[in-house]
Parts: sequence; C-alpha cells; structure tokens
Amino acid sequence: MSILTRRRLLRRAALSATATAAATGAGLAGTAAASAALAGCDESRDDRPRDPRSQPAPGGALRFPPGFGWGAATSAYQIEGAAKEDGRGESVWDTFSRTPGRVRNGDTGDVAADHYHRYVEDLDLMRELGLGSYRFSISWPRVQADGTGAPNQRGLDFYRRLIDGLHERGIAPMATLFHWDLPQALQDRGGWESRDVAQRFADYADHVFRALGDRVPVWLTINEPKTVVQNGYLHGHHAPGHRDPQAAYLVAHHLQLAHGLAVRALRAAGGDGRIGPAFNLHPCYPADSSPGAAEATRLYDGYENRLYLDSALTGRYPEDVLADLGPDSRMVRGIRDGDLAVISTPVDLVAVQYYTPIYVTAEGGTVRRWPTSEAEWQQIHPDGMYDILTRVTRDYGPIPLTVTENGLPTPDTLADDGTVDDAGRIRFLHDHLAAAHRAMADGVPLESFHVWSLLDNFEWAEGYDQRWGLVYVDYPTQRRIPKRSAHWYRDVIAAGGL
Ligand code: FCB
Repeated sequence: MSILTRRRLLRRAALSATATAAATGAGLAGTAAASAALAGCDESRDDRPRDPRSQPAPGGALRFPPGFGWGAATSAYQIEGAAKEDGRGESVWDTFSRTPGRVRNGDTGDVAADHYHRYVEDLDLMRELGLGSYRFSISWPRVQADGTGAPNQRGLDFYRRLIDGLHERGIAPMATLFHWDLPQALQDRGGWESRDVAQRFADYADHVFRALGDRVPVWLTINEPKTVVQNGYLHGHHAPGHRDPQAAYLVAHHLQLAHGLAVRALRAAGGDGRIGPAFNLHPCYPADSSPGAAEATRLYDGYENRLYLDSALTGRYPEDVLADLGPDSRMVRGIRDGDLAVISTPVDLVAVQYYTPIYVTAEGGTVRRWPTSEAEWQQIHPDGMYDILTRVTRDYGPIPLTVTENGLPTPDTLADDGTVDDAGRIRFLHDHLAAAHRAMADGVPLESFHVWSLLDNFEWAEGYDQRWGLVYVDYPTQRRIPKRSAHWYRDVIAAGGL
C-alpha cells in the first residue's frame, strides 16, 4: 500500500463520526472557486437548458416543478424493532449492537421506534405531512433469516402491507434493498469480503422483486456502500467492526458487484420498476491554494466519490485510486473479467445523499471550515448540495437524480406544552432545499428530495442520543410528536416550494 493511502487511512480515522475532534478549521486560504475547480467541484455554470418551472417565482418564492417528489426517509434496522418476530433472523447490527462498548449507552435496535407494530400510525403521519414519496429499506434477514433459500412469507407480508398502505394514502414507495443489515449467517461465511455474498444479494433481490415488484416504482440497491467500506472495515465503528484496509476495498468491489447483479435481477424479473444506486457523496475541496492540496484533494475525491460513481456509471474504476491501492491489493486482485460490465449495468436514476463537505490539506489531512451539527463529522454547508448535484450532472450526464438523504441532528427536547422547537432543522432544510433548487435551475434533473429522517431513530454507533427526525419519538411511550420542522415541511409541500 502506498504512503499516501496509509496517510489517508490515518486521516480518515480523524474524520470518523466517533473521532472528529481532531479536525479543526485553521489555516484556510484558497478562494472557494479556485479550490473547488481544483477538486473537480467547479461551481462554474454549464450551458444546459434550464427548467423554467424551477425558476424563482415573482416575490422571491422558490417553486419546485409540479410532480416534484417531497419525501422523507428511514431504514429498517433504525426504526422497525421487532427483532425476533415473524421469522426475522439476526443481522450484523444485532450482533454489533449487543457487543459491549460498540454502541453508545449499549443501545440496540431491538425495539427502536417500534415501527413494525406502529406502521399504520406512521403511515397516517406521512399523510398528514403531505409526503409524496417515502423511502424505506427492506430488512434482508426478515426476508431470508440466514441470507439464503426460500423467502420468509411473513417478512414479505409486512412490506406488502406497508407498501399497500402507502398507495392507499397516495404516497409513492421507494424501497432500498440493503441498508447495512446483512444477515449474520452470511457474515459468518465471510460477509462482503466473500464474492459469493454478491450473488446471495442478487438472489435475495430477485425474491423481493418477484414478491413486491408490481407495487414499487423505484428501487435503490445498496445504501452508501462507502459507509460500509469506511465505517465497517476501515475504522471499525460500524458493523462488522473491522479495521482492515485491504479487506475494506475488496468489500467495496463486492458491494458494487452486488449492486450491478441486483440491477440485472430487476431487469430479468420484468415490470416497470426503476432502479439505481444510493451514494453518499462528499464534495471535496482543497483546504488551501497549494498544488499539494489540489493533488491530495483529487485522490481524496477518488476514494470518496469516483470509486463508486465511475464504476457504476462509466464501467471503470478511477485510475488514480487503483494506482494508489496498488496491483497487489486485495481489491485489484479481486476484479475479474466482466465485473465492470456487471457493475455498470445501466440504471434509471442515481440517489444522492449529501451531509457534509470535506476540506483536504496538502498532507492529506482534513480541516473544518464550517460549523458542525451535533454530529461532529457534519459541517453545515448548503452550497455543497449545489456543488455535488451539479457535479454529478456535469460529469455523468443528465441521468435523473433523487436526493434520498439530507438532514441533521438537533438537540430536541419535548417542552411542557407538548411541542418540540427544532428551529435549526428548519434553517438547515430551507438552505439545502434552496441549494437543490438552484442546481435544478442550472440544469440538474432532480426529481425528488427526502429528508433524513421521518422519525427519530437508532443512529448506529450513536444509539438514540442523536435525534434526526422531523417527528420526535418519546421512546418510553413510543408517542410520536411532530416537531416544528414537520409543520414547516408540511407547509413547504403544500405550497410546492419555499
Ligand atoms: C447516513 C445513513 C443513515 C443515517 C444518516 C444520518 O449515512 O444512511 O442511515 O444514519 O447517515
């Protein structure tokens, strides 16, 4: 492994969600435009025709096009609970969260927001908000307890009821096949380090498509493969908790392969469903105007963004990343003839999840430039939303985009009068929606936007400490209380804009 890679791995550790204190914002010199251009995050406009429907309306209001999908997102392990019901098997997150010291306060997803039992109430909440799109994930171990073989009908039935309930309320379902809850039995057989798991994923996807494909217009394959790679296999603070750079990038390849195989499975199953990947993309900017920072940023961007985007959308892994990993790396040795053709099987849309920018120094470290949220890894920078959306369109063409996650945790408390005043979330969402609108005005074919999250939930290694929801969950009673931001979002949806 090259020196740069080793340095990068070290600085990743500093950037990780549990160890971000190291990243402080001193010594930033470069102008935003110069820095961004160097990083491939150029803010300059292109000549694409603008969609007149997304122009600011008279009076300064930002109208979104009719039919724009106003949404919210969740994932199975984070909200469902019912960990042992109806034939559900164990996932890596059950194992990880029950391992002492892995999750803050020893929290687990055993009960979570009890959505498995309260989904009807949650569907009604979505209707009250006026949502047009709901992004959720299907739990693989509910469908195949040990990750192989015949599907568990009771698991599929839950999702059928949920999907029917969405349609009854006029809400379009958007289903993610994998949001990190790998069946533990497959982990025991090597997990994503094993190439075979990609094939197991395709078989699982096939069962799901055949059972639910007639009712789901949009599918997402794998949520944030990069987070599995970095948090699960580099830093070890997500399941399965490994710290092994060689394994990490082999896992990246197998996740991408699994994505491509699932796209092919959907095409083989037939039907009208659309499908795409769900990538968390980080605009990378040099921390200063030195050539060294530009060079380091370029490689950083390769690991953060191009590794996933290029392979899925152009059928090539980025040369600089492959060179940095080296020909003897497990990943490079693991790429077989034909894999990239599978990975780049044409998709119908790309899901973008945006939370934070990254500023890279010449030494390959990172610095902080903007205030953070309660999640220390998150710098609040709405222009990053504009930069990343326009960049995807510029570099990969006019493929439809959806924002499937954007949000922040705020220090929400339930007041005596029964309200939750999360003014910070309103400001954040307003500014990020305005940035998305600006990107659309500049030619980005963005079709929908999903707030992370509908409900407060199990935030992985942070347990229940961080509250990311539009709706407050009082965990002892499981009562749902829409926060001020939920009322605000309902009004935005009703008005069709800001
Ligand atoms: C994303 C995850 C999602 C949630 C948010 C805060 O990386 O996809 O499950 O944890 O971060």
